[in-house]
Amino acid sequence: MLALQGERCTLVLDLRRGEPELAYAGPRLPDGEDLAAVCDAARRGPHESQPDIPPPPTLLPQSGTGSAGQPAVLLQRDGRPLHTGFALSAAEGGAERWRLRFDDGALALSIILEWTLDAHGVVTCRSRLQNGSDAAVTVLRLASLALPLPTWAQALTRHAGRWAAEMQPLRAPIAHGLQGAMSFEGRPGHAGGHWLRIDDGSAAETRGLTLSAHLAWSGDHEVLVERDADGARLLMAARLDAGEATLAPGAAFEAPVAVFSVGDGGFAALRRSMHRHVRFSVLPRKPAGPRRVHLNTWEALGFKQDLAALQRLAHDAAALGVERFVLDDGWFAGRVDDTRALGDWRPDAARFPQGLTPLVDTVRGLGMDFGLWVEPEMVSPDSDLYRAHPDWCLHEPGRARPTQRHQLALDLTRPEVAEHLFMTLDALLRTDDIRYLKWDHNRALFPRAARGHAQTLAVYALLDRLRAAHPGVEIEACASGGARVDLAMLGRCARFWASDGNDPVERLRINAGYLQYLPLSILGHHVGPDPNPVTGRRLEMDFRAKVAMFGHMGVEADPASMDAADRATLARHIALYKAWRTVLHDGELVAIECATPGVSGWLAVGEGRALALAAQTGYTADYDAAPVRLPGLPEGSRWRVTLPEPWPARAARRLADPERWRDGLVLGAHALAHHGLALPLRWPQTAWLIALERLA
Ligand code: DGJ
Repeated sequence: MLALQGERCTLVLDLRRGEPELAYAGPRLPDGEDLAAVCDAARRGPHESQPDIPPPPTLLPQSGTGSAGQPAVLLQRDGRPLHTGFALSAAEGGAERWRLRFDDGALALSIILEWTLDAHGVVTCRSRLQNGSDAAVTVLRLASLALPLPTWAQALTRHAGRWAAEMQPLRAPIAHGLQGAMSFEGRPGHAGGHWLRIDDGSAAETRGLTLSAHLAWSGDHEVLVERDADGARLLMAARLDAGEATLAPGAAFEAPVAVFSVGDGGFAALRRSMHRHVRFSVLPRKPAGPRRVHLNTWEALGFKQDLAALQRLAHDAAALGVERFVLDDGWFAGRVDDTRALGDWRPDAARFPQGLTPLVDTVRGLGMDFGLWVEPEMVSPDSDLYRAHPDWCLHEPGRARPTQRHQLALDLTRPEVAEHLFMTLDALLRTDDIRYLKWDHNRALFPRAARGHAQTLAVYALLDRLRAAHPGVEIEACASGGARVDLAMLGRCARFWASDGNDPVERLRINAGYLQYLPLSILGHHVGPDPNPVTGRRLEMDFRAKVAMFGHMGVEADPASMDAADRATLARHIALYKAWRTVLHDGELVAIECATPGVSGWLAVGEGRALALAAQTGYTADYDAAPVRLPGLPEGSRWRVTLPEPWPARAARRLADPERWRDGLVLGAHALAHHGLALPLRWPQTAWLIALERLA
């Protein structure tokens, strides 16, 4: 018997029948519980239609055992499927880690599974296949995680989406059959199919049994949730094309890491575990100081860049309180639109005759950091790099080279390509005082001739080498917004550009997906222009700014295109963000509750202070929206509640007693969670901030 035992969960592996049977995965069992009795109590007898030795719910399901489910391992040799018979040969571990070894003596192959439970309640799962034979073996699948699901697992929330509308939740019962996602883009894609949540069918924010899981991999994935008459299972693996993972004798294949968390306490407890895991176990290092307010030039100037325009923008940004100026796409040689020049990573000589140094000096002189956009993995057919090295891109010899956004992907598995990219980026970082890179990736990888897996590893190696050479430079991961959001990338980066969708109505939905797993601090969230360039919506500055505070705040618009009132409103919200960012980024995040459709938001609870956002995107049927309820505050705690200004102008006129809100109402956690606050939230695009100061 092996048991992982954390603050929030217990996982029990019953080894008595010679297989690793996951007998329990759920809320923490009390110390001293008889685990054998727990396993025996849950064991089922044989049924009418199964092998005489029924296959148990193991962590390594294999075909050929009579198990009806998806196998965790699929191998080939000489183009023919291998019949595997991995048997458990060693099992060891304690409360925080277990390690299982399986051997197939006939094939001379072994698999090692290692699960580690961290202090935050997240299990990190690793699997590795070792080829001890004297013949090559092709891996078609090696599951990072094959998890027999507990019987309480009744509902699955997976994600779907597209550019500028990532991570939309799809919740459905786990019915008989197969649900899930696969990606074929060479990156996870905007849908976010490698993230999911499972619950007991009636779980809510602060109650119920829940589980979340993620495949930490920036290439393609396969994520399958299946149920049949024998039970339900989850499988997560890198999706491999035939031939892309062939192991020579003596070689090993490491599956990407998968993580999951399980327990009770509803979605808030699950979110807390995942957020803490990300903050303390995944992020490479804490950025120096709090998350700085950005201005990114993309929606402000696009490709219309020159030194004078950028210096003017830098001054306007600094006047708003911006702390980091990020020069986006358009600065390099010949890049006047998106049809050319990727690969030619030197400042455009016509627009920046003295290089970037004068701009960097201006930005630094204004007290801001300087950040730079790059898209190193790509090349434009119309570029000096491509003309010099037409064979450096991913392509099939003798076939057409289809582009996306007029660009091709470089083949990073070629050592000379990786070397060139390192040298180029290294030189850029050495030339100017660049503290930040926005690292973009704007096309799917095709054709890739069975090199997607190796390409992903090569990107990691490039990032790792660059980080080692420039430890002070923070990197932001972007892939047309959120097409490559995963924890393997985050282990090398400081944050994600989560979406090109800056329309707060859409961003509230997008972030609601991400925030189930990722903390506010790593989701870049900027105030966009008006009208919004993606959706065309007109949105008041007050609404845009309040919503953008809940993330890593920035500005993605030209202050010169705003009127003085909007600039003042934006500056006030930037100041508010600075005053609250430690609470927002280090606190715990709970979803607010409101019975009125269209109202959503978050409560970030820090040490003695908390800040909530309540945002309305619809128009109410009744004159008044239902009260906004703030669950999840410590039982018995008491708080002074105020509404930080500026207030949304039209809604503020409907407040019952503005002075009372200015002085502050003292309320207990119970009243806040169940009785709530009656705020004017009747019109679309209305948002309130709610500040809580703990009194007891
Ligand atoms: C896609 C990104 O998501 C945008 O923010 C911007 O950087 C453009 N690429 C630039 O080409």
